[in-house]
Amino acid sequence: MGQAKEPAKKKKYQTELPELEIDWRPDRGSAAPVYQQIVDYVSRRISGGDWPVGSRLPSQRRLAQQFGVNRSTISAAMDELYSYGVLEGDRGRGTYVASNTWSLLMSSAPPDWGSYIRSGSFRANVPTIQLINKLEFERDVLRLGTGELAPDLFPREIMDEVFSRLPARIPSLNYLEPLGLAELREVLARRLCAQGIETSPSGILITSGSLQALQLISVCMLKPGSTVYTEAPSYVKSLQVFQSAGMRLSGLPMDSEGLVHWNIPQKRESGLLYTIPTFHNPTGTVMSAQRREALLRFCQNTRLPIIEDNAYGELWFDEEPPRPIKTLDKNGVILYLGTVSKTIAPGLRIGWLAGPRSVTERLGDVKMQIDYGASSLSQWALAELLSGGLYDQYLASLRVKLKERRDLALRALDLYFKDLADWNIPQGSFYIWLRLKVSVPTDRLFQRAMEERILINPGSIYDYNKNNAVRLSYAYAAEDQLEDGIRRLAKAVRSLI
Ligand SMILES: Cc1ncc(COP(=O)(O)O)c(C=O)c1O
Repeated sequence: MGQAKEPAKKKKYQTELPELEIDWRPDRGSAAPVYQQIVDYVSRRISGGDWPVGSRLPSQRRLAQQFGVNRSTISAAMDELYSYGVLEGDRGRGTYVASNTWSLLMSSAPPDWGSYIRSGSFRANVPTIQLINKLEFERDVLRLGTGELAPDLFPREIMDEVFSRLPARIPSLNYLEPLGLAELREVLARRLCAQGIETSPSGILITSGSLQALQLISVCMLKPGSTVYTEAPSYVKSLQVFQSAGMRLSGLPMDSEGLVHWNIPQKRESGLLYTIPTFHNPTGTVMSAQRREALLRFCQNTRLPIIEDNAYGELWFDEEPPRPIKTLDKNGVILYLGTVSKTIAPGLRIGWLAGPRSVTERLGDVKMQIDYGASSLSQWALAELLSGGLYDQYLASLRVKLKERRDLALRALDLYFKDLADWNIPQGSFYIWLRLKVSVPTDRLFQRAMEERILINPGSIYDYNKNNAVRLSYAYAAEDQLEDGIRRLAKAVRSLI
């Protein structure tokens, strides 16, 4: 886990066109031959611009499955499309859309969407994450990597109560002021002050999740080419927010006390440090109180701003973790991020940033240009929830339930993974960082587990260097499936040794 820079990207376009999806089947009752229906369908998708030039088609075997026909029918349809010159085959790449020129012969040729799609500055997700984002919604898939609360942990009764009070409280659902709903910022400021973070409602910006705060920072506050220092591995490495804005991520090693900061160059152009000190995603590490102080001192002395992401800090089990670094910050070095995505529901899309007023105002102004504010309904609901004691009561019971799930997962790991891996014992939050003792490429394990309908997050999506780890989450899968899932995952690992 040494300090590592991302290799410079040589490719002109950052965006690879994804493999095409097919959600149609030929009509068996139609008089038109099935192969002809397939030729017409593919032609329509290409001429309509849904399948731009350069898109990759699934293999003929998969096409046959998806269309529900046999291979010879696919072969006949493909031959006809090849003969028109709209599809081309390439040994390395498979079959792809080569041209839509025949549609130029028609009066309404579509724009070349492929070249538009490849032109934007925002990078595509890495293919594994694109795949995870899709597979999570397949019904028979057991999600052993998902960083969300299981549906049975959703606080349905509390949210019913909160939403039932809203009609009397909400004056309208109009746009809100640039920093977000005043009532919500007031209650958040009170909560943060009670934790020792000096702030006020004008020092808080409500964002559409803390991910949006990261995006706002990357586009408003950092020069392209600047470096963002962060733990290696890190959740932020699995995103493209900083890289899309032209920043480089530089991974810092971690030890048992958290991020090791002393190799950060003291003289730098600009940049900042992003850290998840409490229940780090993905390793679960909790930064010690001493390291927090030392890190803040270092950053103050070398004028390196910190983004402290505290998405998981409230989800401790037996012992409260050290207080946020922000509680020590008397000089406005830290932009502090909070969210309710991990404690209540990511679908509310509400997070917040606490920092100097100059920063909240600048980001709030840009946020108005981007989306005119996070959902007013969600902000009212959260203001209502946080105003009484309901949220704290709920958190206390959530901690107990999460800890039970953790214990279940640890017992299963003891049973099935003892000779295969080492792991941390999480003191809070959702994740177990499973470090395989055997050399199994985790991308291959991801594929193999998928064949078993088990979805995991391979460590490769979080790291800068090759690693041999998997991020497991005990928060999402149904409790009665956790053990079986871990057993089947161990079987998948063994099959690859
Ligand atoms: C450390 C960390 N920060 C932020 C987020 C995203 O949170 P939000 O849903 O508020 O954008 C996640 C989600 O996995 C996370 O793990």
